[in-house]
Amino acid sequence: MDNFLLIFLSLLISINVSAQLNQVNYDEKEVPEYKLPELLISKSGRKIKNTKRWEKIRRPEILKLFEQEIYGKVPQTISISEVNVHEETTDIFDGLATRTQVELVFRKDDQELGVNVLLYLPKDTAKVPVFVGYNFKGNHAINDDPDILLTDSWVPDNPSLGIVHNQVTEQSRGVSNERWPIEEILKSGYGIVTAYYGDVDPDRDNFQDGIHPFTYRLGQFRPGNDEWGAVSAWAWGLSRIMDYLETVPTIDASKVVVFGHSRLGKTALWAAAKDQRFAMCISNNSGCLGAALSRRQFGETIGKITSTFPHWFCENLNKYSAREELLPVDQHMLLGLIAPRPLYVTSATADLWADPKGEFLSASEAGKVYALYEKEGLPVAEMPEPNSPVMGTIGYHIRKGKHNITAYDWKQFIRFAEKHFAPVIAIE
Ligand code: GCU
Repeated sequence: MDNFLLIFLSLLISINVSAQLNQVNYDEKEVPEYKLPELLISKSGRKIKNTKRWEKIRRPEILKLFEQEIYGKVPQTISISEVNVHEETTDIFDGLATRTQVELVFRKDDQELGVNVLLYLPKDTAKVPVFVGYNFKGNHAINDDPDILLTDSWVPDNPSLGIVHNQVTEQSRGVSNERWPIEEILKSGYGIVTAYYGDVDPDRDNFQDGIHPFTYRLGQFRPGNDEWGAVSAWAWGLSRIMDYLETVPTIDASKVVVFGHSRLGKTALWAAAKDQRFAMCISNNSGCLGAALSRRQFGETIGKITSTFPHWFCENLNKYSAREELLPVDQHMLLGLIAPRPLYVTSATADLWADPKGEFLSASEAGKVYALYEKEGLPVAEMPEPNSPVMGTIGYHIRKGKHNITAYDWKQFIRFAEKHFAPVIAIE
């Protein structure tokens, strides 16, 4: 009898869990009551009242929790073995910019990985600040420029763009150019640096390619439970690009803005949290396990994301599927790790899957850490109207429209960057 009861109960529990996983909540009234973990009280119960305690005690604690439970730690140090300059041209866009294409090569035993980095830098200026972020389809997709090299990395098939057998062709050149207003960026005096995220780790549920196998022991086929998923690997790649940018004489490495859209927005946040050389961070429509609060369970949830994209995070995250309340952190703490550096978060009105309100609330809560540094977080307490950006040391806007990164978004990013570090000599 007892056994029957037990089986019956566990059946009920699993039906309940899978029901929770299958439904998507878009109703504010259905958001569960939740209490966010305290940003400014340490594990041992100490109040974190100043930046010294934050930096010595609480910041490292929180960073470690994100590393262990969500994104996964990088198991070993892997450095650039070689930089191959593939191409350098001094006159692009009618003399506005220089273009450089380099390959960062990583080697270990018989393994080799190349990450192709494309740089457009404004000409005739002093050291320039730059935006750095990944693209989704290969460097050649960001502009019609016929000389951008085609990637030979694995790219998800998309026959309508001529991407078959996971290889790109000329047909996808420039297909993402609306997301990359390069000339506007250059004219504002900023450089733009990008790489294809799949060069670092192809975005598929397979830990046999990209950078992951570099750290395997003999007989190991996937990272350990607390070791890097794809987001962590991509963030690692951004730091290696930063290593390279520090060596470029025409770049001001103290003014590097890391940015990303969607899964790459999650990546930009984790990169900026871990690597304080990034002076500013922009996360566009980053949603679940990006800027949005997980405990709200609005739109995409931990259960959804871990079942659709199991390779993005570390194995440990699965414990929190439909158990968000047990997470030792929430995403406001990730944003807090970026303080006191300027941080810009965006949402889009039709991007409910990413939980715009959860993204705003999280940015708002993170302001507590900025306050320790006597910096203004978000300058407003209530969510602003669509297309009404607000800019403190934390900035935010909700754009009218769907999940995307548009010219409107870029206009605000440039304004936000100018507010915090204008280029030394702007191009006319
Ligand atoms: C999916 C995923 C999101 C992610 C997005 C993207 O929608 O559920 O978490 O942000 O893809 O990266 O485009």
